Amino acid sequence: MTSTSDNSTADRRTDMAMQLRARGDVEAAIDLMQQTLELVPNWPEGRFILANMELEAGQTETGIGTLRAYLLLDPADSLGASAKLATLGATADTHDLPSAYVERLFDQYAPRFDKALVDGLKYSAPQQIRTAIDTHFPQRRFDRALDLGCGTGLMGAAIRDITTKLEGVDLSAGMLTAAKRKNVYDNLDHASLLDALRAHASTYDLVLAADVLVYVGNLAHVMSATEHAMTKSGLFVFSVQAGDADFRLGPDQRFSHSEAYIRASLCSARLSLIQITNSSFRQERNTDVPGLLVVAAKPT
Ligand SMILES: C[S@@+](CC[C@H](N)C(=O)[O-])C[C@H]1O[C@@H](n2cnc3c(N)ncnc32)[C@H](O)[C@@H]1O
Repeated sequence: MTSTSDNSTADRRTDMAMQLRARGDVEAAIDLMQQTLELVPNWPEGRFILANMELEAGQTETGIGTLRAYLLLDPADSLGASAKLATLGATADTHDLPSAYVERLFDQYAPRFDKALVDGLKYSAPQQIRTAIDTHFPQRRFDRALDLGCGTGLMGAAIRDITTKLEGVDLSAGMLTAAKRKNVYDNLDHASLLDALRAHASTYDLVLAADVLVYVGNLAHVMSATEHAMTKSGLFVFSVQAGDADFRLGPDQRFSHSEAYIRASLCSARLSLIQITNSSFRQERNTDVPGLLVVAAKPT
């Protein structure tokens, strides 16, 4: 948690409640957090902290109620309560994660992202995407590439030498600052990938999405906006986390997608499938997370 309640007594009590929780006394932590919220009833983060404590204590229904109270105070949902409610089965299927939540998550993550992913989680989507492009189109050079959810620029760095112009778009200003430092993009846009795609018709001959569609459930809009933004014979190359439902938000707050769903989504957007293969792009707790590597093209 980063923001405070603007009430020093409430902030002190919250610190104490967190310490109690860290020592394993969740019931006492809940008591103290409830008293704290009597002082600052409209502090969204306080509600979110209390909800997590209640869920940790096995008070699921109460925790769900507190998450809903939090959402009334922060409708933009920068802490991701709606995703939590979905994984608790307390809402209908979630189609998307709130932009404010993704932005905040990655703003916090940005300074340690490269090290955490590449060293810690053995992240390899950018290299695998590059290899797939080289395998299918060994001599091809691109005029204008768009890196969706470019993050700190790992994907950009992996394909810079095969495109004349390279653009990146991301929701997180913190990630974009790190990407700018890599000095591989001609342009970086602080926007949602859908807005960036919709703003360009028949523009890009290469669109990339490395470990980004895990933050989007229903892919229908992304597929049709990508097709709209691509030139004829342009490529769309991306990774997803593999699952058996069309799309499902997991406890890791990331969506998985099934192969059948990816095939159907590409087909509805009139994109031709070139490759869809099982792979793994990262590890969780030293275990490979199953993924799909996809290469598709806009027909000529
Ligand atoms: C796991 S990181 C991957 C970054 C980069 N593609 C790479 O391979 O290192 C996911 C990135 O996608 C961005 N992101 C997620 N949803 C987005 C959306 N709807 N529009 C734009 N960026 C998004 C996040 O802010 C984050 O920087």
